Amino acid sequence: MTRYPLPRPHPLGIHPGYARLREGCPVARVDSPYGPAWLITRYADVAAVLTDARYSRAAATEDDGGILLNTDPPEHDRLRRLVVAHTGAAAVERLRPRAEEIATTLAKRIPAEAEFVSAFAEPYSHRVLALFVGHLVGLPAGELSPMATVLTLARVPDRERAAAFAELRRRLRSQVDDETLAVVLNIVFGGHAAVVAALGYCLLAALAEPLPSLTGDVRRIAELVEETLRLAPPGDRTLLRRTLEPVELGGRELPAGALVIPSIAAAGRDPDRPTGGPAGRHLAFGRGPHACLGMALARMELRVALQALAEHVPGLRPAVSPATLRRTCEELAVSPLAGIPIRV
Ligand code: HEM
Repeated sequence: MTRYPLPRPHPLGIHPGYARLREGCPVARVDSPYGPAWLITRYADVAAVLTDARYSRAAATEDDGGILLNTDPPEHDRLRRLVVAHTGAAAVERLRPRAEEIATTLAKRIPAEAEFVSAFAEPYSHRVLALFVGHLVGLPAGELSPMATVLTLARVPDRERAAAFAELRRRLRSQVDDETLAVVLNIVFGGHAAVVAALGYCLLAALAEPLPSLTGDVRRIAELVEETLRLAPPGDRTLLRRTLEPVELGGRELPAGALVIPSIAAAGRDPDRPTGGPAGRHLAFGRGPHACLGMALARMELRVALQALAEHVPGLRPAVSPATLRRTCEELAVSPLAGIPIRV
C-alpha cells in the first residue's frame, strides 16, 4: 500500500507517484499518519470532496470546536458569517496602499547578502496580517505587535511565545466576544505560514525569468502568482475529511467513517482540470464552505510583494541552487522553505 505523504522533491515540484496514482488509481487506499485513508488525486474528485457535505471536516479532526475550519455546517456557516463580509476583495483593496508601503520599505532594506524569509517574507506577512486583523477587530495594527512573536517561524522560547499569545488574546478580547475571537484567532493562525510559503515559491518562480521584466506588469504578476499556487499549493498536506455516510467516489464505494485526503497539489496538475476562464482554476485555496477566508488578502499580498521586489531589487538572485533548499518541517503542516539565501 502507498505510504502517505509521498516525499517532497524540488520546492516547486511534486512526487511523480501522485501522477501515477491519478492515472491508475485516483481514489487510492493509503497508509497515513492518521491511519488508513483514501488519497484523492483527480481534480474533479477533489473538488467534489470539498463541496459535498457528506465529507465532514469536523469528524476528521479531534478539535472539539471553536476553530472555524474544524466545524461543520450549520455551526460553521454561523461562525463564518461573523467575519466574512470583512474579508473579501473590496475590504482588502483598502489595505493595498499600506501593504505597498510596507513591501517597498522592506524591499529597499534587503542587504547585499540576505536570507529572504527573515529579511522580507516574515516581516511583510506579519505587518500586513496585523493590518487586516486590526481592521477586522477595530484596533490599530501596532496594537497587534505580539502577533509577530506568536507566529514567527524562527525559534522563540516557548515561554516567550506563550506570553505573546496571552497578550495578543487579551488585546483582541477587549474588542470582540468569545465566539468572534475564536474565528479571529483562526484567521491569525491561518494567515501567516501559508503566505510565507507562497512568497518563497513565488520568488523562486519569478527568479526563473528576468525579475525586472515583471515591473509594472500587473497581469503577468497575477498569472505568475496563480500558476505558482497551482503548482505548489502551500496547504496541500493539511486537507482532511471523513465520510459521514457511504459514498461513491471515482468509481469506488467508500464506507461511512472513511478518512479522505483530497490532494490539491495532485489536482492542480491533473491534465483534465478546467483551464482558461477566471484566475484561480486551481484548488490552492480549497473550495466549498471552507474555501480560504484569506484568499483575497493572500492574492493581494503576493502580487504587491512581487511588484515591490521587481521594482526595488531588480538584481535579486538566489545564492544557492533552489533544489538544495529545505523546509521548516516535513510533517502534515504548511511547511515554508526554512531559508532562502539571496544576493541583490
Ligand atoms: C497563499 C496563502 C494561503 C493559502 C494557500 C491558503 C490555503 C487555504 C486552504 C486550502 C484552506 C481550506 C482548508 C480545508 O478546506 O480544509 C484555507 C482555509 C482557511 N484559511 Fe487560508 N490560505 C492562505 C492564506 C490565508 C490567509 C492570509 C488567511 C487569513 C487572513 C487565511 C485564513 C484561512 C481560514 C480562516 C480558513 C478556514 C476557513 C473556513 O473553514 O471556513 N488563509 N486556506
